[in-house]
Amino acid sequence: MSKQAYMGTTGGKYLDQPLLTPYKMGNFELSHRIVLAPLTRQRSYHNIPQPHAILYYSQRTTEGGFLISEAAAISENSLGYSDIPGMWTKEQVEAWKPIVDAVHAKGGIFFCQIWHGGRVSNEEFQPNGVSPISSTDKPLAPLLLPNRADSARFSKPRRLQVDEIPQVVDQFRIAARNAIEAGFDGVEIHGAHGYLIEQFLKDQVNDRTDKYGGSLANRCRFALEIVEAVAIEIGSDRVGIRLSPFANYMEAGDSNPTALGLYMAEALNKYEILYCSMVEPRMITVEEKEECNDSLLPMRKAFRGTFIVAGGYDREEGNQAIADNQTDLVAYGRLFLANPDLPKRFQLQAPLNKYDRETFYTSDPVIGYTDYPFLVTNE
Ligand SMILES: Cc1cc2nc3c(=O)[nH]c(=O)nc-3n(C[C@H](O)[C@H](O)[C@H](O)COP(=O)(O)O)c2cc1C
Repeated sequence: MSKQAYMGTTGGKYLDQPLLTPYKMGNFELSHRIVLAPLTRQRSYHNIPQPHAILYYSQRTTEGGFLISEAAAISENSLGYSDIPGMWTKEQVEAWKPIVDAVHAKGGIFFCQIWHGGRVSNEEFQPNGVSPISSTDKPLAPLLLPNRADSARFSKPRRLQVDEIPQVVDQFRIAARNAIEAGFDGVEIHGAHGYLIEQFLKDQVNDRTDKYGGSLANRCRFALEIVEAVAIEIGSDRVGIRLSPFANYMEAGDSNPTALGLYMAEALNKYEILYCSMVEPRMITVEEKEECNDSLLPMRKAFRGTFIVAGGYDREEGNQAIADNQTDLVAYGRLFLANPDLPKRFQLQAPLNKYDRETFYTSDPVIGYTDYPFLVTNE
């Protein structure tokens, strides 16, 4: 178990917060434990990362800080939202490079989240208007989108044939290779929130009767094949995965989330990947939280790499979770979105900017993106 002392290193007044202590994650020396969670911002026009992302990510970079990018689509048919960055063409890889360089220039460690939306899509996003793919052919009900203005229409998906699955695994492998080519330090496989990988993992969605459905081992097979392919391609020490066994997002619930999370945590050990990031059970959707008695502790104990938690954390709770050894790192989503200097604000216990939900997914290159103010101090 990777566990390190969390006492402050410089003896400064505010530095004895566990979140602000160094941590060695594999080969990466992190100077603190406050991680930028993956945050889709839908500002990558036509799926090409844009120059405005250089400022956005570098604003959130600290020397030795760990950042995870927004979800990057692995292929043309993985899309389900507009203006999501891609990681499958040469042009996309080239467009990522200056963004990654800017993070590295400030001493950050930057992983790319790689993603396939599966049935969270419709024909309009698909090449030649084909049906989106999934583990199932059950469609999703229409949904009010996170921007709360639009209703998303989902098409009836096409159930992947067993002999097609290796091609999708291979798309993840190639996307991981492309991310390394773009300069990223590693990748995070998006196995959470009801997207393609979860459509295999969860029994509310997966209704297959072949070797990818039914038992836990069968439902986890697709995810683990991706982990293996990606780990072989870029090295297991550069691979993380995100899971949300308890979440119910996109009609992807499971009848026994603890067993699922535990099975995955144990199975992942075989591949010796760098980290496992799990979303707290209290997060019933990406944003809504509700108190519950479930816990990620069994998974934290079972998984032998670095453990990251996310979901509704504030400064105190993050410090407490590390002090109690419930996790190694804490990923912050909305607070980091709205506070580019979040580690500094935590350090000084300064007030935080409030996030503006209305601009989470709008396409303006500045508003709600790079215009959240920094703390003004007398330093
Ligand atoms: C605007 C927005 C975009 C998000 N995009 C992603 C994403 O691309 N990938 C992902 O795994 N989670 C995504 N999430 C979930 C966050 O990473 C995080 O788990 C969630 O916001 C809960 O953490 P928080 O309470 O610290 O915000 C998103 C959340 C928000 C609010």
